[in-house]
Amino acid sequence: MPRFKTIDDLDVKGKRVLVRLDLNVPVKDGKVSDATRIDRSAGTIKDLAAKGGKVILLSHFGRPKDGPDPSQSLKPVLSSIEAATGLKVAFANDCIGPEAEAAVAKMKDGEILLLENTRFHKGEEKNDPAFVKALAKLGDAYVNDAFSAAHRAHASTEGVAHLMPSAAGRAMEAELKALSKALEAPERPVVAVVGGAKVSTKLDLLGNLLGKVDALVIGGAMANTFLAAEGIAVGKSLYEKDLLPTARDILDSAKKKGVALILPRDVVIAAEFKPMAAAKTVAANAVPADMMILDVGPGALADLAARFETARTVVWNGPLGAFETPPFDQGTNAAARQVAMLTKMGALVSVAGGGDTVAALANAGADDDFTYVSTAGGAFLEWLEGKDLPGVKALEKSA
Ligand code: 3PG
Ligand code: MG
Repeated sequence: MPRFKTIDDLDVKGKRVLVRLDLNVPVKDGKVSDATRIDRSAGTIKDLAAKGGKVILLSHFGRPKDGPDPSQSLKPVLSSIEAATGLKVAFANDCIGPEAEAAVAKMKDGEILLLENTRFHKGEEKNDPAFVKALAKLGDAYVNDAFSAAHRAHASTEGVAHLMPSAAGRAMEAELKALSKALEAPERPVVAVVGGAKVSTKLDLLGNLLGKVDALVIGGAMANTFLAAEGIAVGKSLYEKDLLPTARDILDSAKKKGVALILPRDVVIAAEFKPMAAAKTVAANAVPADMMILDVGPGALADLAARFETARTVVWNGPLGAFETPPFDQGTNAAARQVAMLTKMGALVSVAGGGDTVAALANAGADDDFTYVSTAGGAFLEWLEGKDLPGVKALEKSA
């Protein structure tokens, strides 16, 4: 469990508190289409305001390349922050310099100010000391509530933490606690479910998990590469030919470490990848040359069910099949619903995150009952890889 301060350890009354959020949320036609990240940080904002802090919100939005870009302004996000907190929020068109300084100088205790996209300045991503200083000039204390941006060593996620008393916000605190429960000091057995398209993007992750879990369930097109590595013909299925030796190494390593690496024993196949394609179930070693694997089969699900029944901890990243194209969402749905049910019964702790995972669990209607579903993509994956996250490291150092 990382050691860091929380906002309960900070004296914020009358102080200017720089609060790093991840407001990099989906926006459609000028409106926030998924406010989950904002909702999760509402408690942080409300607590700091209630304690009489001057709450100054910082975030990046998108990936602007050349300075200020109106299409990547944080302005459309403001009303969602007001809706999530029930509090009024002011806005400044820049995050450093005279305009930001004037807006901060006007603030009374308990007021909230949102500053414009930190990435409108090149110094943000470079963690440039001059830019860090310009940000630090606006605050007396720093709170980081942006776990999902903590894999970036940027000025507002990392640099500023070194210049003033710093603490984790409520969402960051909850996230770090949940993650720690799942992999650092988990109740065993621990089952990891790793799905998705490519082994190549998950090599570090698989390597790290093999040292931590009792069983590793592989799903998605990734599983095809492992099946092929075992000499099984996978027909027209998506798989990574050049990763076969690597997949064999991973299979060997699992054996040596005594980790059960579980591949689907049966699969759902179709001749074409399209919605409601005619699908059938075959044994994993009986895929015809002109068919492709698009989901795990009922036998594979029964294997998973047996694992989940005895598991005390489940860590989940990635879908088991082509979940965006029914009926190939059925394997993911069934497995996710079982984990959700066992979590609800108190039988296990379940933590999920990264990329498509949230969408896949939401599609299954299972996301609400997991112990914790991270809103992080890249940061969650780097955490699964066992990497230090610079944003979290800086908080620990500050504590
Ligand atoms: C995210 O949405 O994953 C985070 O906000 C990080 O954004 P980035 O990948 O542009 O750094
Ligand atoms: Mg990203």
